[in-house]
Amino acid sequence: MKKAFPLSKVYGLLEPGPVVLVTTAHKGRTNIMTLSWLTMMDFEPPRIGMVLSERNYSFAALKATRQCVINIPTVELAAKVVAVGNSSGRRVDKFAAFGLTPCPAREVEPPLIEECYASLECRVTDARMARQYNFFVLEVLKAWIDPARKHPRTLHHQGKGRFVVDGRTIALPSGKK
Ligand SMILES: Cc1cc2nc3c(=O)[nH]c(=O)nc-3n(C[C@H](O)[C@H](O)[C@H](O)COP(=O)(O)O)c2cc1C
Repeated sequence: MKKAFPLSKVYGLLEPGPVVLVTTAHKGRTNIMTLSWLTMMDFEPPRIGMVLSERNYSFAALKATRQCVINIPTVELAAKVVAVGNSSGRRVDKFAAFGLTPCPAREVEPPLIEECYASLECRVTDARMARQYNFFVLEVLKAWIDPARKHPRTLHHQGKGRFVVDGRTIALPSGKK
């Protein structure tokens, strides 16, 4: 028998993922934020929808520059992912504070994060829903992965400090995509 579940906790059932570290660059300052509310929208060029709250320092940077890098960390970086998500670039240089290494991107101003398994250089193609929903549509211009990492175990946020860590991969014959 199912029982009623609080609406405030529904987001944790539809666990999104992976948790990413979004870098921005604005007015000579680079910044990082943790973000889990992402969705794929198209194959190629890859299109991504992202919810980034206007309360975050990163919001103004993304809105003004229309550029970011989506960096995908693995479980080894879990403590830093949480620390980045619990501090603001208004007050802290998060690269220095959390020992993360910026490296230049090819197509955009914000840096890649060296320690992350993959990095996606993105531009905002549609910000019309940013005002009402904090929703940005991004196109990936350039993608990078670390080929040495054969089994990257990404983090998936369930809310309130709980994460699911990627486990076994299975391949099914009907898996079209
Ligand atoms: C695990 C985790 C997931 C988060 N997901 C999001 C998200 O999807 N969207 C968002 O706007 N903020 C999200 N946050 C909150 C921001 O990372 C946080 O407010 C951060 O301090 C913003 O940094 P900034 O002020 O330097 O931009 C998340 C935080 C954590 C710890």
